[in-house]
Amino acid sequence: MHKLIHFLKQANNIVFMTGAGISAESGIPTFREAQTGLWEKFKAEELATPQAFEQDPLLVWKWYQWRRQLIAKNKPNPGHLAITKIQNELKHVTLITQNVDGLHQEAGTRDVIEFHGNIRNNKCSYCSHVENNSDNQSDVIPQCPNCEVNLRPAVVWFGESIPESASQQSMQAASQADLFFSVGTSSRVYPAAGLVELARQNKATIVEINPNATPMTSIADYVFAEPASVALQRIIEVLSLPGDLVNTKSNI
Ligand code: APR
Repeated sequence: MHKLIHFLKQANNIVFMTGAGISAESGIPTFREAQTGLWEKFKAEELATPQAFEQDPLLVWKWYQWRRQLIAKNKPNPGHLAITKIQNELKHVTLITQNVDGLHQEAGTRDVIEFHGNIRNNKCSYCSHVENNSDNQSDVIPQCPNCEVNLRPAVVWFGESIPESASQQSMQAASQADLFFSVGTSSRVYPAAGLVELARQNKATIVEINPNATPMTSIADYVFAEPASVALQRIIEVLSLPGDLVNTKSNI
């Protein structure tokens, strides 16, 4: 752990990339966990697609309204707050998140790169219109004021490309990182999962925080096989302590 802390203190460009696992401790089910209630017979991957919205816009809209209400009831957890603290205490800390729940921003992390968009907004598929959905619990799909078509959640669906600016910023951050944290992601979905490999190719030290092994575990220099809030709080505790740095490797 101390060697990692040494890296943290010496690093010029620290990147965190988070997935659904960091929001699990806020009570938000991860993307591949079975869905509950009305939605248990649907797989997220079947609903989060342009085809599903085309075929049954109201079904997809209601699913998102249900997810939005779930998110609205939940708050950032110590894992989100720890990343904010690290960003405040160290220089050049960039956060890329695959999550659309907005909890990192709510925890105070700045300049969040939303790789898959943000569920709190709606957007038009045909023009640049975007609007906030936070105060809307209606099952009536809002219409674009310019195009008079259904608005859709401002998230990236399966089969869609990553927003250009998020993609560019993320690739630049990953290629310049000297320390890259992959937190709470199954590392199964590209191009997000490719960012760890890009960082690795550029000689970054890789840290994985995930209770379960993933395809990236074998290339990680440090592995915290524990919940994100536990690992990140341990890092915060040691980071804020003065004292000598001893050489420790592998599992912390
Ligand atoms: N702390 C850290 N990791 C956790 C925790 C926790 N408390 N709980 C679960 N995890 C890990 C799981 O072990 C799993 O590897 O979080 C990961 C969640 O994986 P997924 O559900 O696949 O979510 P994610 O990796 O974010 O999916 C990536 O794929 O489906 C698309 O757009 C969707 O953004 C999503 C992307």
